[in-house]
Amino acid sequence: MAQYSAPSPALKRVLEPTGLTVSPLCLGCAPLGDMADTFGYSVPDAQALETFRAALSGPINFIDNAASYGDGEAERRLGIVLAEMGGLPEGYVVATKADRDPQTGDFSGEQMRRSVERSLRLLGLDYIQIVHLHDPEHSTWEQITAPDGAIETLLDLKREGVIGYIGLAGGPADLMQRYVETDAFDLLVTHNRYTLLNRSGSALIDAAAARGMGVLNAAPYGSGLLAKGPDSGARYVYQEAPPEVLEQARALDAVCRRYDVPLGAAALQFSMRDPRITSTVVGMTKPERIQQTVEWASYAIPDDLWTDLAAIGHSTQDPEASRWG
Ligand SMILES: NC(=O)c1ccc[n+]([C@@H]2O[C@H](COP(=O)([O-])OP(=O)(O)OC[C@H]3O[C@@H](n4cnc5c(N)ncnc54)[C@H](OP(=O)(O)O)[C@@H]3O)[C@@H](O)[C@H]2O)c1
Repeated sequence: MAQYSAPSPALKRVLEPTGLTVSPLCLGCAPLGDMADTFGYSVPDAQALETFRAALSGPINFIDNAASYGDGEAERRLGIVLAEMGGLPEGYVVATKADRDPQTGDFSGEQMRRSVERSLRLLGLDYIQIVHLHDPEHSTWEQITAPDGAIETLLDLKREGVIGYIGLAGGPADLMQRYVETDAFDLLVTHNRYTLLNRSGSALIDAAAARGMGVLNAAPYGSGLLAKGPDSGARYVYQEAPPEVLEQARALDAVCRRYDVPLGAAALQFSMRDPRITSTVVGMTKPERIQQTVEWASYAIPDDLWTDLAAIGHSTQDPEASRWG
């Protein structure tokens, strides 16, 4: 039977246009910020630190954090492990995200500067390779693009040499496409919108790739469901999974079982095999997840499995549409 070979998790590639060399897998830090409201479970300090230690001694050299993950908790925890190692080890790439003020919602340029300054302090770094503008859907286009607004301030920080490259990381694809077209950003992080269950981000990925932006695809498991399985009670896009999503996930799982392939391996490689995507950002909160993820990334998957999975179909609706009203 014909078999597709996934890119080796150890084989690094250049994240254009930054020139940084990254693994095709990236450690996503959202659940490492102990965000029980978002993920449905808590992650104690010691467990998160062990996960960071495992990540920083394995084949994944790319870490995706954010100021808002546990309101600094995920950055603080990463910073502890970086300090133990005497700073960011050679060859590793850390990205974080500049966030609005969690209390007031302030998404001004001054707030971007405060957010980046706190990230530098918590991470113990004097330079951050990549900073993404995080979830601009929580503000207005006018505020984000104002002459002294969020984008201009991030560009200033880049000009000042405080940060290396700027990315756009957010949800609704139509709005993200409008931001992509400003040509202010080097990178795009899309999430939950290019998975076995949902492809509403595909045109956005095309648009970013066509402009020469590096594309990072986050949440290949739809925030957990496709890793833990449709009958695990795991969430889908950070909420209880709706019945129609569970039904679709069960159909995907049944196909995978016929081929003896874990659903998680198919979900992960669905993203990794796409040539538009440089790295796939995966949330993990246990040290053993690093090795498990590497195994899923290199699991032998027959070509026929992809054909059978495609026959099940997928949603092209925004998975959070109902939440935006
Ligand atoms: N707006 C944005 O910029 C944005 C939005 C969403 C995500 N992101 C980034 O992308 C990352 C990934 O997204 P995500 O974490 O939300 O969702 P995800 O990667 O789709 O799923 C994460 C979940 O999968 C579970 N998982 C991973 N490997 C597993 C395995 N081998 N077996 C069983 N369960 C496994 C994790 O469980 P355990 O806790 O048990 O390991 C966690 O609950 C985030 O952490 C964040 O860095 C960015």
